[in-house]
Amino acid sequence: MEANILIVDDEEVVIKSCERILKPEGYSVRGTTSARDAMEILKNGGTDVVITDLKMPDVDGLELIHWIRDNTPQTAVVVITGYPSQESIKDALEHGIVDYLPKPFSPELLIDVAEKAVNAAKARVTEERSFEEQDVEAQIDRIMEIINENRHKPGALIPILEQVQEVLGYLPPAVQRIIAKELNIPVSEVHGVVSFYSFFTMKPKGKHNIRVCLGTACYVKRAQEILQKLKEKLGIEEGGITEDRKFSLETVRCLGACGLAPVVMVGSNVHAGVDPVKVEEILKQYD
Ligand code: FES
Repeated sequence: MEANILIVDDEEVVIKSCERILKPEGYSVRGTTSARDAMEILKNGGTDVVITDLKMPDVDGLELIHWIRDNTPQTAVVVITGYPSQESIKDALEHGIVDYLPKPFSPELLIDVAEKAVNAAKARVTEERSFEEQDVEAQIDRIMEIINENRHKPGALIPILEQVQEVLGYLPPAVQRIIAKELNIPVSEVHGVVSFYSFFTMKPKGKHNIRVCLGTACYVKRAQEILQKLKEKLGIEEGGITEDRKFSLETVRCLGACGLAPVVMVGSNVHAGVDPVKVEEILKQYD
């Protein structure tokens, strides 16, 4: 099966043995001993699966997993660990790892898990493509109108991105590719601008976007518990969107309404003095 696999482990010997086992299976395998290097490799795209150690000296595997979830969510992750603690495995599983390999592992187990991860990565790409492409397709006339209205203006890229985000609610790679092609600039330039400015987002928003304030005034009044309850009720993590695309969930530092803490906003509605046990009642108000 064709796929690109990246092995991240501070022990060279682990990288070498993974390469020895996986290459004959038809995979293209590369390795790095540093999670920071892994992030650089992943930014260039094309990696289907990351097989990473959890304990590493500079950036550890969990941090890498969190980074992947936020930046290249289509990449499937497998964890290799010598001392799996319940907590670290639980955290890794919550962040969507496909499986984990306890050290030492047999070649058969590595091949099995790699195959499972490659299948998961391919399924994610298909899912994401159709999701994004449907969004872009539905608004393609408006997107082209925005591009045409701005293309000859100096510094056209940012106003185009702003207006397209207003239309789509986010800037998926599919629309970044269209903008790059139309402006005759590299996709990496568009991607660089989208990633640099915090007001641009590559994540889709639900019909109702929920923002939980985690600023100090809200934090001391159990905002974390509210967030936890919302995650449980919606079955999504921070930055996620429900399958029916009804709700998305994000956190903010301060909503400027500290006197009303703890505060949750759903779309433009402010919910003040929220009691964590009552989050379900709030969700019921939205259809
Ligand atoms: S800290 Fe939550 S509104 Fe200011």
